[in-house]
Amino acid sequence: MILEKMLQSQGFGSRKYCQQLIKIGAIEIGGEVITEPKFKLNLIDLEYSVYAKSYQYREKVYIALNKPAGYECSHQSTHHFSVFELFDEVLLNRGLQCVGRLDQDTTGLLLFTDDGQYLQALTHPKKHVSKVYHMQTADPVTQDQVIALEQGVELRNETGVFAATDVVKLGEHSLHFTVHQGVYHQVKRMMAAVGNKVDQLHRQQIGLLKLQNLAEGEWVYLNAAQIEAARHQAQSSLEQPTVEI
Ligand code: URA
Repeated sequence: MILEKMLQSQGFGSRKYCQQLIKIGAIEIGGEVITEPKFKLNLIDLEYSVYAKSYQYREKVYIALNKPAGYECSHQSTHHFSVFELFDEVLLNRGLQCVGRLDQDTTGLLLFTDDGQYLQALTHPKKHVSKVYHMQTADPVTQDQVIALEQGVELRNETGVFAATDVVKLGEHSLHFTVHQGVYHQVKRMMAAVGNKVDQLHRQQIGLLKLQNLAEGEWVYLNAAQIEAARHQAQSSLEQPTVEI
């Protein structure tokens, strides 16, 4: 691939703008300034810098964020910050999308990508990628509620039954479970359906990808094993070893 096209593909702007960046000497590869827009590149493990900031060439990007509370999953957020404010313009120019959504007050694992096929594989209703949630509840969690969640509940305006697996009561007001669909406000509605209320919600895991070491508001690029782990469809998310981020 030629240099101007590579820069455009990575989100640095129009072809014309990228040509200008190159001509004014803003691009360095292997310690050398390259001023030829048609310079031919080997993309494998390519590292380059733009105005002395280093980048790695990525055909597609896959990102995990530990979402803080108070951020909405929309580009044009209304009452809160947008999760997209946590990324720089170069990444946003690539057409970064949220993989599914978390409510503004939910924290935890949220993925982003510019790979439409990957997004579809994780969010299509038929794919049943599992997600693990931890929550604090307003009322004490009862054994009847645990059983009702395991057996499944109906949700208004949704077809089918919504059941949780791996339901574990962690404390009087604290619970975690795995869900296998992804409908709007699913966890909060399931808890309301069994007669309780979610006060705090945190997503711990998607597929076999588990949030472990990322601070709130921090994000990382996923490696190949992590990208695959997140699309895993398992009945129980506890049945196989997780991959951590
Ligand atoms: N279920 C909810 O109710 N809210 C979320 O943010 C995610 C799942």
